[in-house]
Amino acid sequence: MAIWIAVLCTLLTVVLGSLHFLGAFRRRRPKEPPLDKGYIPWLGYALDFRNNSSEFLQKMQRKHGDIFTVLIGGYYFTFVMDPLSFGAIVKESRSKLDFEKFASELVRRVFGYHPVSTDHKIIQLASTKYLMGDGLVVMTQAMMENLQNVLLHSLGAGVEGRPWSQDGLFHYSYNIVFRAGYLALYGNEPTNGTASKKKAQEHDRTHSEEVFHEFRKYDRLFPRLAYAVLPPKDKMEAERLKKLFWNMLSVKKTYTKDNISGWISSQERDLEENGVPEYMRDRFMFLLLWASQGNTGPASFWLLLYLMKHPEAMKAVREEVDQVLKESGQAVKPCSTPVNVTRDMLTKTPVLDSAVEEMLRLAAGPILIRAVVEDMNLKMANGEDYILRGGDRVALFPYVAVQMDPEIHPEPLTFKYNRFLNPDGTKKDFYKNGKKLKYSTMPWGAGTSICPGRFFAVNEIKLFVFLMLLYYDMELVNGEEEIPPIDNSRWGFGMMQPTHDIQFRYRLRF
Ligand code: HEM
Repeated sequence: MAIWIAVLCTLLTVVLGSLHFLGAFRRRRPKEPPLDKGYIPWLGYALDFRNNSSEFLQKMQRKHGDIFTVLIGGYYFTFVMDPLSFGAIVKESRSKLDFEKFASELVRRVFGYHPVSTDHKIIQLASTKYLMGDGLVVMTQAMMENLQNVLLHSLGAGVEGRPWSQDGLFHYSYNIVFRAGYLALYGNEPTNGTASKKKAQEHDRTHSEEVFHEFRKYDRLFPRLAYAVLPPKDKMEAERLKKLFWNMLSVKKTYTKDNISGWISSQERDLEENGVPEYMRDRFMFLLLWASQGNTGPASFWLLLYLMKHPEAMKAVREEVDQVLKESGQAVKPCSTPVNVTRDMLTKTPVLDSAVEEMLRLAAGPILIRAVVEDMNLKMANGEDYILRGGDRVALFPYVAVQMDPEIHPEPLTFKYNRFLNPDGTKKDFYKNGKKLKYSTMPWGAGTSICPGRFFAVNEIKLFVFLMLLYYDMELVNGEEEIPPIDNSRWGFGMMQPTHDIQFRYRLRF
């Protein structure tokens, strides 16, 4: 008899434990946001969220309002959709809302890197020194020189007339910006004397092409890898690519290069000083490659595409670019050395700046996630008080909450190149409910986890577009073709990508 009671008790414990694990007992407590667990135990809304986070969150916002908690793959996420209340989340101390917990799990899974507690500080220190202020001048110059090699190396040489070349615009933009950015950060093939300079440049071009080719394979697998839903064959391919990159970007190989950026070398050294073993530092190099090169290429694609689709925007940006070049005392001439666009010249382009911000508003879709360390109060901008439960996650999705809000950005789906400019050329402010917004777009995230490469990223995009407009005439092969839709499987990971490429042609302007 006693045995049967013990068996029954164990069974009951297992059943209750499983039900608890699956979320069956979770109830909304007083002052907590509306709770929606969906219909599938444990998974909740995981499938809807993964298939199209943007559509899912719009639906939830219509159903529950500006704050709600949803079950996604065993985790409870509270989404705050009111931009006036964002400050309460992004400014909260790390002892209450921790961004590293979630990021660490992701980084382990997708890059094989095991984070240490000093990583964030190391990234921040290196980025402040090498990607901002004087460091940004150096990095912008390095990007410029590598763009000259990758984009302008054969300027009209040996070609009669001005024939058109054709390519997929996404492939072309991503390829050029990735390769130049990679070389600027990770260094160039060493040279010894001018005789081998040409050879070294040629090597840089072929090597960076190879890196890009492999990177795109990984990039395509990335969203499903991050959600841990890759089928076995793709999982094996992701493992192969990870190992390939750990090797290709290994610390040993990196130090054989010339012109390695301070951003890369100082982070590597700091990790070593903090006791991170070399094989782990190889993996960190791969993490940095993805963070630094996965977004600027797609962003450059969207910007060129919007400019081509909006001739008045193309005209305004081209006039500005031509004017800035003229003021610098340079001119674009056939078969001469390429022009040098400096960081200083990039500070004189308010129209291009507005076009970049508008492109980011339309095509950047990060999701900011923090772990709720213990129960805490959240005061919304409208005065309502909520309790966030310890162990849950709190998340912001600025694309829906701000960037597509017609009250903040009228006709939100339309590209308006001068949306961020006042008629006198100064930067515009944006309002909701009559209150000025601190965050009218949020492509870079915000708070402690804000993208530390944002100033360099903008300069990379601007340099590429600057040179394309100075040197080339461009047009879509089919001018009537619609802008391709966004690939909905990539929400949450930074810049969005199109579902398919679009063909364009380009030829020298002179
Ligand atoms: C259009 C281009 C880019 C976009 C839209 C972008 C966006 C972002 C976003 C949304 C985050 C995460 C913020 C969060 O979790 O709250 C991030 C993190 C990061 N980004 Fe960028 N980024 C871009 C380019 C770059 C570049 C060029 C670099 C470096 C050269 C860079 C380096 C990083 C690093 C290292 C992190 C992780 C920071 C940390 O964990 O402390 N990003 N980026």
